[in-house]
Amino acid sequence: MCCSFSLSLPQLLLLLSLPSISLVSSTNQHANKNLQPDNMDPSELETLFNIMDTMSSDQNWRLSYPDPCKPGCSAWPGIECKTGNDNHLHVTRLDFGTLPNPTCKSTATFPSQIFSLPYLRSVFFFHCFTHAKTTISVSQKGVFNSSLQQLSLRSNPALIGPIPPQMSLLKSLQILTLSQNHLDGQIPAVIFSLSSLVRLDLSYNLLGGTIPYQLGNLRNLGGLDLSYNSLTGSIPDTIGQLGALQKLDLSSNLISGSIPDSIEKLNSLVFMALSNNRLGGKFPKGLAKLGSLQYFIMDDNPMFIPLPAEFGVLQKLQELRLANSGYSGTIPTTFSQLTNLSTLSLQNNRLTGEIPVSFGSLTRIYHLNLSRNFLGGVVPFNSSFFKRLGRNLDLSGNPGLCLSPSEAYGVKIGVSVCGSKGTSSMKKSEAPSGFSKPFFLFGMEEDASSSSSSIEVVEDKNENEMEIFNLKDKVKDPKFRS
Ligand SMILES: *[C@@H]1O[C@H](CO)[C@@H](O)[C@H](O)[C@H]1NC(C)=O
Ligand SMILES: *[C@@H]1O[C@H](CO)[C@@H](O)[C@H](O)[C@H]1NC(C)=O
Ligand SMILES: *[C@@H]1O[C@H](CO)[C@@H](O)[C@H](O)[C@H]1NC(C)=O
Ligand SMILES: *[C@@H]1O[C@H](CO)[C@@H](O)[C@H](O)[C@H]1NC(C)=O
Repeated sequence: MCCSFSLSLPQLLLLLSLPSISLVSSTNQHANKNLQPDNMDPSELETLFNIMDTMSSDQNWRLSYPDPCKPGCSAWPGIECKTGNDNHLHVTRLDFGTLPNPTCKSTATFPSQIFSLPYLRSVFFFHCFTHAKTTISVSQKGVFNSSLQQLSLRSNPALIGPIPPQMSLLKSLQILTLSQNHLDGQIPAVIFSLSSLVRLDLSYNLLGGTIPYQLGNLRNLGGLDLSYNSLTGSIPDTIGQLGALQKLDLSSNLISGSIPDSIEKLNSLVFMALSNNRLGGKFPKGLAKLGSLQYFIMDDNPMFIPLPAEFGVLQKLQELRLANSGYSGTIPTTFSQLTNLSTLSLQNNRLTGEIPVSFGSLTRIYHLNLSRNFLGGVVPFNSSFFKRLGRNLDLSGNPGLCLSPSEAYGVKIGVSVCGSKGTSSMKKSEAPSGFSKPFFLFGMEEDASSSSSSIEVVEDKNENEMEIFNLKDKVKDPKFRS
């Protein structure tokens, strides 16, 4: 516990597979090497002490850890050191806030001196700046020699102010995570000159303004997460230049316009989330070219167009979420070609027509929500389909849908049985009171001559399930931000 060696997994496995005698000798070798008087450079040590003074809850860090890099039982768990070419020990990693690493003191403020530790490779400050308001600052001094590759400042409620443009001087940066802080202002365009970046996560902040078009410079970027901010404007066309992008999350912003056509070039994209924005109009022409896509999550946008049949070509799709976005027309039958689809959410749209018969052959689907549309006709599913999806099937709020009496027995999906009054009155007695009326939606008149009866209604005592049928809740539902 007290000594921390850094071994790669293969090295570790090799060690473990060797007889114990060689494990001991290897440990000794390691210890001997570190017994050399390879001390820290005094100015680097002083910089580290200063950082610890602002961060550590340990009152007298300097006295407790006079040789913080020296391996042995006095070593402090949040620090990792390595011997450099100059045969000195150097701090390479600082880690606060995640177990087993130490927590920060409640008055901790951002230590800009981390950028003047030339050998520092990774910094993790998790839940560190919680009380004393503090900003990210980068002094020019030393920053040109920084070899910082990973900077992760996550979940720091007292970390406020803008992202300083000087961060673009951290030329070695590969992973920048500034998620769940209170950062505001615009995203500085110069950040996108950090051409080594493979991951950029600025999610859950208060960032505003538009997404700079310089974004397209990050040719190595594999993951981009700007979700849960207040970004406006449209998605820049240059996004199509991010050829390595696998994950794109722009959810919960105020992004408008339509998805740019250039997005078709992102053929490595596996995960795309655009929910809860103001995107509208059209889908990109080359949607079908996004052949790697497994997750397409785009609920809550004012689209108001028919669903594109091209989704059916995206064979790898596992989740397709397009709820609450004003889609009209019928559900394209091509959707039933998505053999790996496990979740399909199309609830709260204006879809009409019948559920494609071929949906019954989506063998991997386990969550299907088509509730609150204008779908009609006989539900094309058989008893084994109903059984497999159980409560994860929601067809409620489609007044025109009905269940074939032969499949209806024991099915609780919020859909009436097609047909005879005889059946319905018999079953009606089993329904809980308050649910005897078929629900109706969007101001449609309840059709008194409807062939629907009401056994549907979920005999379930579960509150959540009942909520589905509560008209009042529908009124309260957040509508599009149009
Ligand atoms: C940066 O490193 C160079 C040599 O590697 C050194 O001469 C220079 O003083 C360093 N600059 C700063 C600001 O530390
Ligand atoms: C569907 O999923 C299976 C198992 O995860 C995978 O092996 C297969 O390649 C997937 N098919 C497609 C078309 O992506
Ligand atoms: C239900 O439908 C599926 C797909 O059409 C079919 O493979 C399966 O055999 C059916 N099951 C029953 C019990 O009819
Ligand atoms: C289907 O969507 C509605 C509306 O968003 C939601 O209330 C309901 O819980 C969902 N049903 C299921 C089974 O997920």
